[in-house]
Formats: sequence, C-alpha cells, structure tokens
Amino acid sequence: MTGSKKPNEKFFPGKTRRHDYKGNVKSKVITLGAVFTILTASCSACSPFNVEETGSNMQFLEPEPAENLIRVGFSQLGSESKWRRANSVSIKDALTVDNGFFLQFNNARQTQENQIKAIRGFISQQVDYIAFCPVTEDGWDTVLREAKDADIPVIIVDRQVSADESLYTTWIGENMRQEGENAGLWLAKMLEDRGKSHDKINIIELLGTRGSSSQIGRSIGFDTVCDRHPNWVLLDRDDGEFTTAKGQEVMSGFLRKYDDIDVVVCQNDDMAIGAVQAMQEAGIDLYSDDKPIIISFDASRQGLEMVMQGIIDVDVECNPASGPQLSEVIHDMEQGNQVAKAYFMNEEVFTKDNASKFVDDRSY
Ligand code: AHR
Repeated sequence: MTGSKKPNEKFFPGKTRRHDYKGNVKSKVITLGAVFTILTASCSACSPFNVEETGSNMQFLEPEPAENLIRVGFSQLGSESKWRRANSVSIKDALTVDNGFFLQFNNARQTQENQIKAIRGFISQQVDYIAFCPVTEDGWDTVLREAKDADIPVIIVDRQVSADESLYTTWIGENMRQEGENAGLWLAKMLEDRGKSHDKINIIELLGTRGSSSQIGRSIGFDTVCDRHPNWVLLDRDDGEFTTAKGQEVMSGFLRKYDDIDVVVCQNDDMAIGAVQAMQEAGIDLYSDDKPIIISFDASRQGLEMVMQGIIDVDVECNPASGPQLSEVIHDMEQGNQVAKAYFMNEEVFTKDNASKFVDDRSY
C-alpha cells in the first residue's frame, strides 16, 4: 500500500458520505427490503446484475445490518481462465457482508458491451462504488465520464484502461510490462547459460485477448528485451484468447507452419496447457532436451506443476488476489483518507529452482 492517510474531498464531491461503514453518517441507505429487491432483480434473466448463487453473495439473505453496508457494483470481464476465476473468488471473499459490503457481482462473459451495460446499471442504482476488470484497454471514456458525473468513484482492477486517469479514482493490478520483460530477461540469461547467446532463436507467441492491457503490456515488455537481441526472430504471434482451447488451436497451426520453433511464449498458463497438448499431438517429446523452450504467465498450480516436471521452463506470476487490496482502498476512502492512483500486486518468477516451494499454496 502506498496511499497516504490524508482526507481527500475529491472522491466525495457535493455529497455527505458515510464516514464509518459500521457507523452513522451515510449518504445512501440500503434497507433489507432493498437488498431483497436487488437480489431478486439480479437473478432475473434480463438484469445486467448477475449476483451469483454461490459464494459470499448468499450472505445478502442473512439478517445483517444492511443499512450500514457499502454498496459496490463489480463487473468481472468473464471466466476465461483459472486466473480469472481465482480473481473473482478473491473479490467475493474480500467484499463480504461481514467486511461491511453489499456486492453486486456481474460476469460480462468476455464482452465490453456487457461490461458497459453493467456499469450503467450500477450508475442508475446509485451504488457507492464501481469496480471493474476491463476486458480491453480502449473504449471506456464515455461510461467513465457518466460514472464521474454521477459522483460514483470508480476503481479499476487487474487490467488497465487508456482513458484519462482523471476519470477514475484508482487502479489495483499487475505490472504486465514488467512480467513480459521478466520473461525476456529470463530467456536471455538461460540462452547465455546454455552457450546459445549468439544462435538464431526462432520464437512464436500465443497472445492473450488482443487489445487487453495484459496482452499489450506483456508483448511490449517481451519485445523490449527481444529488440536487444538481433538473433531472436519472432516468427509469428496470434491471439489465443487466454483459453486452453484456442491456445491448442493456434499452436497446432504454428506447428503445421513451422518446423524450427525454439521458443513458445504463452501469455497465460491456460494457453500453455493447450499448446502442450498440441505439441504432444504433433509427437514432440516434452521431456527431451531439444523440445521448444516454453515460457508462460500466471503461475497457477497446474502451471507450477508443469514447471516442476520440466515441461514449462519459466512461469512468470500474475497475482489474482486483488480482493483484500480493493476492500482496503474502499475502507480508506470511506474514512476520507487519500488513496494512491495505482497499487501494484507483488509478483515472482518461477523456475524448477523455486516452484516446489510455492506450488502447495496456490489457490488457482
Ligand atoms: O489480466 C490478467 C490475465 O487475464 C491473466 O494472465 C489471464 O489468465 C487472465 O485471463
């Protein structure tokens, strides 16, 4: 946490806000009846609110002191990967009734249109805070302006947006460029250790959702290192959409097209699993010394197990546990404290040397 603890009126322009989420002074009151109405509305097919039937959201039905809860509308971009599902669990586990929250959680099923609809729904319901994981970097200006005009603070989670930063309050997420650069630096060191620093190295890349800040950041970070090595040749890159199925499809295509791939960069573990399946189908021995080097991101449990088996060579962590930080930032704002403009999650790089120490603690 880098936020200082000074009162900051800019988050609450023209409003009397709640000073203590368990206390008395509030601008908005939510009653048990309203909780029930919202929950019912959320379950209807036409509603943009998709309060899920499992997890901490069910606590809305408990006879809690609902009038004291902080209302947060959260738009999750989808559930394309294990990482994403872990991120959703982290948010729901942190924004519980016990922790002072009434969470409206929406799954946008991978489309920006659904996310914008959900955010507009949260605005019309006058929630206290809006948080969302943006599926792509561009295209948020209008809806962010609408939230600002409605005096609702917006917290961006995980990926970033290209919109002017005056349109949102803060961002909590991962350093995607650094992740990509870490992958490139690891490759340079590994080639040096193997005495291959000057060999021609053919690389292919399976990209995450095109236009997402995770894809853009990881690509820029990796390219930065690539550019320092004229002997590294980027043969091809294509969109694997952060999923196993698409990763397998794209990798099969590359294997048909190229017979001299030295390095496969998969921008997440789900795609790496798909790529490995494609390599197995193509008869590549994944345990031999001359298999392609596999670089992956996320460091899920399965990813780390594959590192320990020597199938994935390096797994650059992307930390999905942003829920507690989101909760802390909102509580800080509730108390009138100033919050930072950006919060970076802690992230590691895993190889055979250290993966076994961390694998058992993985939640995803
Ligand atoms: O934005 C984070 C990325 O999105 C993760 O690497 C990926 O697994 C997820 O779907």
